[in-house]
This record gives sequence, structure tokens and C-alpha cells, in this order.
Amino acid sequence: MSDQLSTEHLLGIKALSAEDIELIFRTADGFKEVLNRPIKKVPSLRDLTIANLFFENSTRTRISFELAEKRLSADVVNFSSGGSSVSKGETLVDTVNNILAMKVDMVVMRHPDPGAAVFLSRHVNARIVNAGDGTHEHPTQALLDAYSIREKLGRVKGVKVLIVGDILHSRVALSNIFCLQKLGAEVMLCGPSTLMPRHIATLGVKVEPDLDKALRWCDVANMLRIQLERQGGDGIGNFPSLREYAMRYGLDLERYQRIGKDVVIMHPGPINRGVEVTTQVADHANSIILDQVENGVAIRMAVLYLLAARIPRSVG
Ligand code: CP
Repeated sequence: MSDQLSTEHLLGIKALSAEDIELIFRTADGFKEVLNRPIKKVPSLRDLTIANLFFENSTRTRISFELAEKRLSADVVNFSSGGSSVSKGETLVDTVNNILAMKVDMVVMRHPDPGAAVFLSRHVNARIVNAGDGTHEHPTQALLDAYSIREKLGRVKGVKVLIVGDILHSRVALSNIFCLQKLGAEVMLCGPSTLMPRHIATLGVKVEPDLDKALRWCDVANMLRIQLERQGGDGIGNFPSLREYAMRYGLDLERYQRIGKDVVIMHPGPINRGVEVTTQVADHANSIILDQVENGVAIRMAVLYLLAARIPRSVG
């Protein structure tokens, strides 16, 4: 059993092994215990400086990373593209290298362009953590999702996970598919055909267009957010209306009760209440939506701690 990650950066789940993911989970178990103490802080990263670069909006991921860094005693600098020199034409590499010149060790970055984190890892001398790159990957979201399933059901292997909605624009879906499959779960996708990538079945997932059938199959239903900001025109380019989407692919209490078993309800947030899930479903006893958010801090602490362990440094 290794105590080191196989990678120097966290760019996506695709590059991680199942052993890496299990190591992150074991490490997060320890940090969850820390987070439940009166003093929720350890000195592990007190010699490191971490920059959070957010070129796209975020609430959960940004706050969760910042809390994780502070709980590990790292020095933290926050950058968001609004109000920065990016608007004056500065390139991504120049922006990051200027920040690194101020002696930053790790960069956590969210960016609207797929591949931005990989690009950065090849051009700057720091550990890079992908906090979501366009429609590509959102690795810490998938890790916290799988960790939350493990916590709720006691295992991930053999669990049937349904991912519903806007698969086409979702970095959460792709990272979840990779993560769940590496851990031995079965994955089914459900959503409008216009929001389903054409060759998605080649990833080894099942595709079921009928939500009621899909819900009867699964143990866990992860209801994705409709990514209105990544769709054309007024935001609704791929289905007639939000009302019609909610009727066919949304989860309300009546549909949930028709399943006839205790399906675990998940959502990566932010929720469009009344579209992907109704309030009664979001706040249902079988919903683990807020557990996902809580577990995000422990998972991000684990990722940062394990990546920092691979930085040559002298402590003391
Ligand atoms: N789940 C997620 O990435 O949420 P934010 O966009 O608020 O970070």
C-alpha cells in the first residue's frame, strides 16, 4: 500500500490510479477527524504558499480549497480574473509566472478552457491542482462525490450510480465516470439526447433516456446542474424550456417516491431548485448534498497534503 501519489499535479481523474484514489480517501478520513475537533487546524503545510486562481465563478470549490489550505496552515493568496491584468491582455502563463515570482509553491486553478490546467503544468514551475477546466474535468468534485458514496453506503465497488442531465457540458460527469469506474462502480447516464455526447457509450457507461427506468436501476442518483452559461443564446439551446426539462429529467418528491427504494440523492451544486431537483428532494433524508460539501474540505486537504509531500523542501 503506497503512501505517495503517482502524480506531481492533480490535473484530472483520468491520470490517477485506483490506489491514488484510495490513498486520498484514507488521508481524507484522518483530516475529517481533524475537522471535527475544537481546533480544526494542523501545521502540515505551514512552510508553503498556495495561490487560488479563479478565472471562472465559483462558490463551493473556491471556499472549500481556501478552508482546506488554511486548516493545513498554508499561506494563501486569492486571485480572480475580474479586476486583474488579464483584462489588459496578459497571457495565462505570464499571469501565473508573475504570481510564482512572489514565491508561490502550488497553484489551484479554475479556468473556462478545457486543458488549461495541463497547459499550465507544462509551462510553470509549481504543483498544479485543477479546480475545474471548462467542460473537461473537475477532479476534486469527483473525489468528494465518490468519498461521500463510500461514507453513505460503506463501499463504492459494485454501487450503481446514475448521472442525470447535462452530460455534454459537464466536467463533473466526466471526472465522476473516470473515478467511479476506477473504484469498481457501475455508471448509467440519463438526459436529453441533445445533452448526451455522441460517443459516450465508448467509455463503458450505460445510457438510458427514460429517467423513471434509470431511477429504478440505481442506488445513487447524481442530479447534475444544467450549465446554462455554456449553452447558446438565452441559455436554453438544447431543450424547449426549463419547465419541460424539469418534467422529463427533474426529480420531484412524487417521482422519487415512485422508485420504491432508498436511492441516495446527490447534486454537485449550485442547484437550480425546481429544475434538477425540487426543494423537497434536495432536503430529503436520503439527500447527501450537504455531506458532499462538507467532505470537499477533507478531500481537498488530502489532495494538497499528498501533493505537497512530493515538493522537495526543508521544514524546521
Ligand atoms: N460544484 C462546484 O464546482 O461548485 P462551484 O462552481 O460553486 O465551485
